[in-house]
Amino acid sequence: MSDPTISELFDLTGRTALLSGASGFLGSAFASALAEAGARVLVTSRDRATAERVAASLGGREAGNHRGIAMDQTSEASIEAGFAEAQKLSNRIDILVNNGHAALGADWSSVTGDQFQEHFRNVTGYFLLARHVRNAAVEREHAASIVLIGSMYGVVGSYPDAYAGVCSASPVAYHALKGGIVHMTRHLAVYWATDGVRVNCLSPGPFPSEKAPGEMVDRLIQKLPMKRMGRPWELKGALVFLAGDASSYVTGQNLLVDGGWTAW
Ligand SMILES: NC(=O)c1ccc[n+]([C@@H]2O[C@H](COP(=O)([O-])OP(=O)(O)OC[C@H]3O[C@@H](n4cnc5c(N)ncnc54)[C@H](OP(=O)(O)O)[C@@H]3O)[C@@H](O)[C@H]2O)c1
Repeated sequence: MSDPTISELFDLTGRTALLSGASGFLGSAFASALAEAGARVLVTSRDRATAERVAASLGGREAGNHRGIAMDQTSEASIEAGFAEAQKLSNRIDILVNNGHAALGADWSSVTGDQFQEHFRNVTGYFLLARHVRNAAVEREHAASIVLIGSMYGVVGSYPDAYAGVCSASPVAYHALKGGIVHMTRHLAVYWATDGVRVNCLSPGPFPSEKAPGEMVDRLIQKLPMKRMGRPWELKGALVFLAGDASSYVTGQNLLVDGGWTAW
């Protein structure tokens, strides 16, 4: 058999992908990327109607076959139910993208212990869903690629002067959470490598939506080598790379797409 071509390596035709938080700012770009690369996409939202709306909006080869699932990653029961539903819709989940995020406003100066703990439900949810996908892939004897969405703030601290006087600082619990996701990636990658299940992290840099305060965005721009914010579509290539065969010998890595933020 000849080696795969570059188009084959980036082709997700025949794969089923499960993507959490697909209605969000970056989740929408991730959903489009997977669909455009040929995958059938099962998208989640906490709200079933939203998930179904996103699924119906997706194109690609599987247009019309994408489906929406209700799932809240902060609830183990909801993860169980959501994954069971995904398995009813597809007898194999080849790709998991853990992207959903229950946000926290409070920074280091005001966060309570309970809020801090609550925030960690996000990483617990990422783990529980990843384990479901790994176990099902092993049981059905097929490979799987798991992508956890991290953040540049899982790797570096934030600049206090980017936020001072404008809004709360980036939450300390968020840094602890995303750092945990980056490192959990390595742990799971090692344990699951011989199962044919790859685990990688994709860490966006600054991709503010229109809701972000303009003054903070201006300050962030000054901190960046590229002197501009990221646009959600600029994550699509990296996601498809990690999701499919183009990264078949890559596991346990954290790919930063950050305009050079962590390169200074
Ligand atoms: N934007 C950035 O600059 C940036 C930078 C670094 C990393 N990230 C990471 O990228 C990911 C997406 O961020 P984003 O900017 O697209 O955020 P977003 O627009 O707020 O989207 C977050 C998504 O998470 C879902 N969600 C909220 N609570 C949830 C829960 N309890 N269980 C499951 N899903 C839940 C929401 O979907 P429903 O409301 O439909 O349930 C929403 O679609 C996050 O993991 C974030 O930390 C973003």
